[in-house]
Amino acid sequence: MPREPIETKKDELVDPIRANPDFELTASRMAIVGHPIHAMAVAFPVALTFCTFGADALYWWSGDGFWARAGIWAAGTAFLFGLLAALSGTMELLMVPGIRIRSAAWTHAIIAVLLLSLLGANWGFRMSIGFETAVLPYGLLLSAFNMIVVAATGWHGGKLVFDYGLGAAKGN
Ligand code: HEM
Repeated sequence: MPREPIETKKDELVDPIRANPDFELTASRMAIVGHPIHAMAVAFPVALTFCTFGADALYWWSGDGFWARAGIWAAGTAFLFGLLAALSGTMELLMVPGIRIRSAAWTHAIIAVLLLSLLGANWGFRMSIGFETAVLPYGLLLSAFNMIVVAATGWHGGKLVFDYGLGAAKGN
């Protein structure tokens, strides 16, 4: 149901985004029994990105091919679970008016797409030149960089929830 715009006094400075009646509609729509799917899904790509670096570092240290094989599996699953997490995040972004209207939500989406392309590159590189050959040095360097980017993505996503209250069970 359309809502009336918030009334303002004459000559008062108004933030048009905050004044939009949809501004407070921030509750998650992609949720299972009130639990937001995106918040549950992001744990997997975050953890697997760190696992990829761990496996690469152990391969560098031990030379054991087991860790290179663990690395390609971690890199691949980080990418695939990242895509799943991004799907739920994108649905949330497009379907919830109070999330869609905030530029911070779009900033998070842009950082996340950068992350997904790096996760895909890390996996694709290993698939194309061989999982052992790929690790030293470029696989390891890419895994280290991906840890920084996933930390930035997760930190910024957390700000959306804890600072702006987006995707929580309140608002509508
Ligand atoms: C294009 C892709 C993405 C979009 C549009 C997106 C959007 C969002 C939105 C709208 C929120 C606010 C909470 C909610 O409404 O559920 C959020 C939270 C979050 N996002 Fe994303 N996201 C994307 C991908 C990712 C990826 C790939 C990661 C990490 C691997 C990530 C990590 C997080 C984290 C950690 C939170 C905080 C969750 C919480 O503590 O409850 N996001 N994201």
